[in-house]
Amino acid sequence: MIPAIARLPRITLGNYPTPLVEAEHLSAALGGPRILIKREDLTGLALGGNKCRKLEFIMAEARQNGIDTIITTGGTQSNFALQMAAAARKLDMEPYLVLAQGAHAEVQGNLLLHDILGSNVKILELSPTQLLRGSIMEIMHRLADELTAEGRHPLVIPAGAHNILGTTAWVDAVDETWQQLQSRHIDANYLVVTNGSGSTQAGLDLGVKHLRLPTRVIGFSIFYTRDEAVADLVKIANDTARFLDFDLAFTPEEISIYDEYNGEGYGITTPECIEAIKLVARTEGIFLDPVYTGKAMAGLIDFIRQGRFTRDDTIVFFHTGGIPALFAYAQEITG
Ligand SMILES: Cc1ncc(COP(=O)(O)O)c(C=O)c1O
Repeated sequence: MIPAIARLPRITLGNYPTPLVEAEHLSAALGGPRILIKREDLTGLALGGNKCRKLEFIMAEARQNGIDTIITTGGTQSNFALQMAAAARKLDMEPYLVLAQGAHAEVQGNLLLHDILGSNVKILELSPTQLLRGSIMEIMHRLADELTAEGRHPLVIPAGAHNILGTTAWVDAVDETWQQLQSRHIDANYLVVTNGSGSTQAGLDLGVKHLRLPTRVIGFSIFYTRDEAVADLVKIANDTARFLDFDLAFTPEEISIYDEYNGEGYGITTPECIEAIKLVARTEGIFLDPVYTGKAMAGLIDFIRQGRFTRDDTIVFFHTGGIPALFAYAQEITG
């Protein structure tokens, strides 16, 4: 483990290392490069996902600070909100969610699971874009003040756990993945990931640069425009580098993010996303999700079809979870 990360408090919430599996039938169907899938959907906490890793660091610090109540935000089908609520329950903390009315606010998918968890859910009549670009941090801090007045010790976590500890967790994930690759003598020259709030990709970029790995990170954005996502990634990666005492810094030119596969916007799935979900299920028996990984896989498939990778390339695709949302998107998926 990277020494600066090994020193940080961490709580076990998931099963690591997550499996790294060959997707040879998918590769064959695409006539393209070797593809491996890093199964972050199999972390084990509340049906899996990339946020469990982030929460292992964030919740460890919260517990050290005597926190007993966690507040966060996202769309109604937010996977982070679900992972956070499940982690809070496991650690005997009370979860509060201030959610934006996304494409699916019915009690299905992640919202159904919140019902089972008994999460305190408030749904605002705003789109996720309005909410996340607006005054959500103020709204959450007001709620935190009310809960403090009631004698609780709340912590506000930004959407997607987009902070330095969340990014740090994904620097650690690079180390874990690279060890898996090396033990199997595999040289991967691309790491492909969905970019949402951006800290998963920021951690990957930072880990690759810190460890000087001969591989390139490609992100497919499903929320921000390319320029916004790049600017944000550079900031959070550089802040995290300072926190970890890494002697390096990013410039925007080093970052690869594509926003062409987001269709009409966050939470609105695309025909290519649904095609990608079905292809991966029918070749590998693995379910992607309709908001994040399906769109990133649609981007990867299009890149392969455009000939942007060769058969000699090896790609690791990070399956970052999101599976509960599939059930809320039944209508779009079945057409
Ligand atoms: C399934 C899934 N994949 C990817 C992401 C993106 O992660 P990040 O917010 O760190 O960019 C999210 C974020 O919510 C997610 O739920």
